[in-house]
Amino acid sequence: MSDLDRYAVLGQPVGHSKSPRIHAAFAASLGQKLLYEAYEIAPDELGPSLSRFHAEGWAGFNLTVPHKQVGAALCESRSEAAEQAGAVNTLIRTATGWHGDNTDGAGLVRDLTANLGVAIKGKRVLVLGAGGAARGILVPLLAEGPAELAISNRNPWKPEEIAAALKPHGNIVPRTHLSLKGDRYDLIINATSAGHSGAIPRLPPKLFADGGIAYDLNYGQAAVPFMVWAKSEGAAQVSDGLGMLVEQAAEAFQRWRGVRPATAAVLAELRG
Ligand SMILES: NC(=O)c1ccc[n+]([C@@H]2O[C@H](COP(=O)([O-])OP(=O)(O)OC[C@H]3O[C@@H](n4cnc5c(N)ncnc54)[C@H](OP(=O)(O)O)[C@@H]3O)[C@@H](O)[C@H]2O)c1
Repeated sequence: MSDLDRYAVLGQPVGHSKSPRIHAAFAASLGQKLLYEAYEIAPDELGPSLSRFHAEGWAGFNLTVPHKQVGAALCESRSEAAEQAGAVNTLIRTATGWHGDNTDGAGLVRDLTANLGVAIKGKRVLVLGAGGAARGILVPLLAEGPAELAISNRNPWKPEEIAAALKPHGNIVPRTHLSLKGDRYDLIINATSAGHSGAIPRLPPKLFADGGIAYDLNYGQAAVPFMVWAKSEGAAQVSDGLGMLVEQAAEAFQRWRGVRPATAAVLAELRG
């Protein structure tokens, strides 16, 4: 194994991260050798740490909360997906620094369409939340051709800003939670972090169309409040974001290693 086979996820906190397990499983499934660790890094340490890691020969990183936005600014170049999201979750080593990418949107769309069999084309889709994750999934969702893509957030100004910034990529309808009253959606995606404190966004009732689907970017305990709410509101199908986590990791692995690992066995093992 060379220095260039060293990777890590950087966050704070990061002890709960499943990324080391996922990437170790991907590498094993492909007969590749690599080292993937998790490092807790404070926000003001991210810049110096990335410089040091580059000098030490590390090959790539995943960034998680709270580093995705600041990390984007620290990259010497960014992919289109990273520019659209204003956030990076994957850093790829270049000769002189780090190239930032964002694989969250691709991971979500892959989980929805390939793993869960959810068609987005022609559907009315609502994204809840306007943080880095929400912003990262909007353009990939638009690319699937929904009939409508709306975004609603607790802070009502953020959806307006995001819709205006992403206007060149298509029409995103900015909404407030309260103004959703009376509307129906085929797919409602929770991209808030409310579940981490046992909460859900304050929404009007009856938002799901017949056969409506709920998807929470969160997984584990943090996904429980939204999934319970969605079921009680009559959603026909509910899913957490574990599949997205595995799929965004597979996208990152592909960017680093040139091959996209199969994901089904890893997802099944995590669920097991
Ligand atoms: N499965 C995956 O692979 C994956 C990938 C990325 C992210 N995620 C998850 O997605 C979530 C969002 O991540 P992020 O990076 O976008 O976080 P973020 O930038 O901190 O944004 C948090 C969002 O949640 C909203 N929010 C927080 N508490 C709320 C509450 N009690 N009620 C209503 N809205 C609330 C915030 O609204 P305000 O603007 O009003 O504060 C904001 O829109 C996180 O829980 C993260 O773990 C999962």
